[in-house]
Amino acid sequence: MENKTAESSFFNILNHKIEARKAENSFRILTTESNKIDFYSNDYLGLSRNQVLQKNIDSKYKEITEINKLGATGSRLISGNSIYFEKVESYLAQVFESESALIFNSGYVANLALLSSFPQKGDTILYDELCHASLKDGMRLSFADRYSFKHNDLLSLEILIKKAKGQVFIITESVFSMDGDAAPLAHLADLAQKYEAQLFVDEAHSTGIYGKNGSGLVSNLGLSSKIPIRVHTFGKGMGSHGACITGPKIVKDYLINFARSFIYTTAMTLHNLVSIHESFKYLELNSDLAKKLHFNIQYFKEKLKNNTQILPSDSAIQIVMGDCIEQIKSLANKIHLENMMVKPILSPTVKLGSERLRICLHSFNTTNEIDSLIDCLKQ
Ligand SMILES: Cc1ncc(COP(=O)(O)O)c(C=O)c1O
Repeated sequence: MENKTAESSFFNILNHKIEARKAENSFRILTTESNKIDFYSNDYLGLSRNQVLQKNIDSKYKEITEINKLGATGSRLISGNSIYFEKVESYLAQVFESESALIFNSGYVANLALLSSFPQKGDTILYDELCHASLKDGMRLSFADRYSFKHNDLLSLEILIKKAKGQVFIITESVFSMDGDAAPLAHLADLAQKYEAQLFVDEAHSTGIYGKNGSGLVSNLGLSSKIPIRVHTFGKGMGSHGACITGPKIVKDYLINFARSFIYTTAMTLHNLVSIHESFKYLELNSDLAKKLHFNIQYFKEKLKNNTQILPSDSAIQIVMGDCIEQIKSLANKIHLENMMVKPILSPTVKLGSERLRICLHSFNTTNEIDSLIDCLKQ
């Protein structure tokens, strides 16, 4: 009897929270894939649907399954490592102009590793207020103090650095996932150098898109040696899944020993590894994909250059702000009726009151498709 009461109060709490979400008009449900024109996925270069790449992955996979296991069978430190794993990591280190790279099962998990393992009790983490949830969750697992600085605001950051204790860590994204703008990376690197802080950059939305062979924005700006510790993810521009942390060999050794989200999990499957490897090899030979994407970005921006509801962004992520959730949702519905797919971004992913429409541009979007989207936005 007692148990029954406890159980019903548990479900009551769930129900109460769900009803509150519904009342805010921000209740989420899962939807299955859409066959509408894609202005919503992170598949910026169309690699997840690229037939040639799929064939390359299939044939490489067939070739190497004979000598490798399909599933990793354990964590990297027990039975999950392989020569092929290490080969892919060396290859990635080369792509990212780094001494080493360590693969993680996802960007989320890589960010948990980064921020839970390096900052220690007595240290200070200073992070851009718009940093991704995975970075924030990583910090929550650390015993260091943490404070946010105003978005891309060097002055706000410097004030905090001056007050910070212990080793200082500065955390940012090269391209912000829900705003699409870029961090002032060169200035941040200078500031980090001035105060002997460590600057970590999450390159989730720039990997594949910028730099030679998709090496990211840091590399594109010639800052790889000034910002060696970075997270590159493979589930967005690379059309696959997983992530790696780059850095000097000592960083890799440290993570293998202290990053719990690396140590206590089964390693990634062989198919996933092959997909990552082949995606980068494909980009090496097909730099036109990123060029086409950048052309589409410029095309979209030029056509909407006087529209004050579009946030400034040079990336594939373009943001339309609205007055309220209802307006954003009704704009999204209007676009859906024109056979195009976009997604509203609601609180708590973004701050309450700053709900928005997130448009993702791709290399495969035609100018006609972009024109149709712009017509909807202009109406
Ligand atoms: C900035 C940023 N970092 C990390 C992640 C997590 O990457 P993954 O999807 O590979 O877990 C995301 C994905 O949403 C992201 O936008």
